[in-house]
Amino acid sequence: MDEPIFSLKDVSQVYINNSEKNEALKHVNLTIYHGECLGIVGQSGCGKSTLGKIISLIDKPTQGEVYYQGNKIQFSDRSIYPIRKEIQYIFQDPISAFSPRKKIIKFLLEPYVNFKLCPKKEALIQIEHYLKQVGLDQSCLNKYPHQLSGGQLQRIVIARTLSLSPKLIVCDEMTSALDVIVQDEILTLMKKLQIENQLTLVFISHDLSIVQRFCDRTMVLFDGEQIECLNSKDFTASKHPYIELLKDAIL
Ligand SMILES: Nc1ncnc2c1ncn2[C@@H]1O[C@H](COP(=O)(O)OP(=O)(O)OP(=O)(O)O)[C@@H](O)[C@H]1O
Ligand SMILES: [Mg+2]
Repeated sequence: MDEPIFSLKDVSQVYINNSEKNEALKHVNLTIYHGECLGIVGQSGCGKSTLGKIISLIDKPTQGEVYYQGNKIQFSDRSIYPIRKEIQYIFQDPISAFSPRKKIIKFLLEPYVNFKLCPKKEALIQIEHYLKQVGLDQSCLNKYPHQLSGGQLQRIVIARTLSLSPKLIVCDEMTSALDVIVQDEILTLMKKLQIENQLTLVFISHDLSIVQRFCDRTMVLFDGEQIECLNSKDFTASKHPYIELLKDAIL
């Protein structure tokens, strides 16, 4: 776990709204290692999703350098396309990922069509495999999204993500729309998949107890600045006032 897969050097993100500047991320330096589960934690609006979208190569930072597997990312170059397949982003609200009129089978086949991964017959065999991995069976394939629960939909989103054989997955508050028991099931599932599919995970959450339980290390963000990057078990010992505040928030 000591080989870097991804790194950010002096990365900043500035949004401009109605000529007003918003420094959402300020001079962040970060290395993510192969096979680790890295947490990103902080209060609402501190820049977690902004950072998550840069790590997923969805957004280009206004300043700084981004490296994947040792190579500098050129955001406007075609060389970024195959890398985008290897780094996936899972959003908070599973239902927003679905179109209400499309059956689950269509949703799961999309990556195979979009990325021309393999013929349909083979795709269906793979889909069956990934559904099994996330604890579902083929009975969901002919259903519409509204016929499934939030937890089942999130499992389907995960199955679709796996079909792209990603190396790094950024999970942005992926369980906050779910109740506590389902939340725990999904997090446990992600840890199982991390081992089975040799994944590197980035777990974004505002909940310190979640990152403490599931992540190896956690980066703490405050108002766009990185405060600390701690081994998750060292949180209890940290006396940083902001970390104290986050600890109080979960009591
Ligand atoms: N596309 C955008 N355009 C303009 N401002 C943005 C954009 N995305 C985020 N921001 C601003 O950047 C700051 C950081 O937002 P971000 O979504 O990264 O926070 P967050 O930590 O993910 O919050 P939450 O926990 O509520 O999801 C906020 O002030 C937000 O309003
Ligand atoms: Mg967010």
